[in-house]
Amino acid sequence: MEYEKYLSDKVKKLKASAIREMFKLMSDPEIISLAGGSPDPSLFPSEALAEIAADILKNQPVTALQYGTTDGYRPFKEAALNRAKKINSVAEGDKIIITTGEQQGIDLAVKTLVNEGECVAVEQPSFVGSLNSIRAHNAVLVPVELEDDGISTDRFEEILKETRIKLLYTIPNFQNPSGITMTIEKRKKLLELASKYDFLIIEDNPYGDLRFAGEDVPTIKSLDTEGRVIYCSSFSKILSPGMRLGYVICSGAVIDRIEIAKQANDVHTPFLTQMIAAAYLEKYDIDKDIERAREVYGRKCAFMLECMEKYFPKSLKWTHPEGGLFIMCTAPEGTDIDALLKESLKNKVAFVAGSGFMVDQEKPCSMFRLNYSTMPEEKIEKGIKALGEVLHKMV
Ligand SMILES: Cc1ncc(COP(=O)(O)O)c(C=O)c1O
Repeated sequence: MEYEKYLSDKVKKLKASAIREMFKLMSDPEIISLAGGSPDPSLFPSEALAEIAADILKNQPVTALQYGTTDGYRPFKEAALNRAKKINSVAEGDKIIITTGEQQGIDLAVKTLVNEGECVAVEQPSFVGSLNSIRAHNAVLVPVELEDDGISTDRFEEILKETRIKLLYTIPNFQNPSGITMTIEKRKKLLELASKYDFLIIEDNPYGDLRFAGEDVPTIKSLDTEGRVIYCSSFSKILSPGMRLGYVICSGAVIDRIEIAKQANDVHTPFLTQMIAAAYLEKYDIDKDIERAREVYGRKCAFMLECMEKYFPKSLKWTHPEGGLFIMCTAPEGTDIDALLKESLKNKVAFVAGSGFMVDQEKPCSMFRLNYSTMPEEKIEKGIKALGEVLHKMV
């Protein structure tokens, strides 16, 4: 059966995520993957979660296994809301909806706010999952260049003068793929621009807790006095990505409509995982887990940077993240990153080519993303050394 002709246009234009494709390769145990964005699995509190899960299934089976409410399991909603309150990211009148991973929260927010053909501004490069979600809703992606201290607000204002932007999607903390953090000045400037040119902002903050250097910067949501920010975050990077627990916080018709959109999407996020997470947050100190994660990622990041200094050609540039999971490298213009990746895979080292993070994925792109969270240190060194050898040959 030739199915191609039956596919919708909006699905046909999506390219498989390079990262998801990489996951397929990961079954080869010899591959050193600097590609994914997964947390260090040694940080999962598996034993505690196993005990809690068994207890819930034994003592509260009906709540865990029956249909639940769309906005989420109340104690988990409260726990998530309290985490957001701690960073002043809940305003009066705000509501929270638990989503099946933050990816769903972003997708529902875009679906709720953007009509076909309307413009959504994004940092370039940006998170491929969100770019694909915006594409799938037939919106027009408008790239705004990312500078060392966050999105270029000057360039963005030039764009705003000429183009009606309905929504800005931004990852201000330890951005994926760059690891870059936006300054408070730029966060304030974005809110000024949002007010002046009348657009809303999706603030995507799954990595905010994972700061291992420098000072915390207030969320855009915490600086917002007009209710322009839809705040999305996740438990994927601080508890477990497999539990698929994210959330959206905002107010009024937007959050009400996101809830209705979710009903048509998956009815609700599984109560079992929400209950397990709620009990974990009640019984254990997740901030201690986060402290440990920061320490582990800070050490691994510093170690990877050291290895890069040692093994990479001097003509490459890279970011120096203060948190999160990623370093972005820029090779001299004209470097064929796809060819580099092919060669590197022959040497059993995987990374993610930058083109997938661009609005126009066909344009030549000399960037690539490295992840330091998943591999142990000896593999980080082995991987960076092998990649360095390929780079010396090809750059
Ligand atoms: C920037 C960014 N936003 C959102 C997500 C989605 O997270 P979740 O696992 O909660 O769906 C990711 C996942 O890697 C991400 O990097």
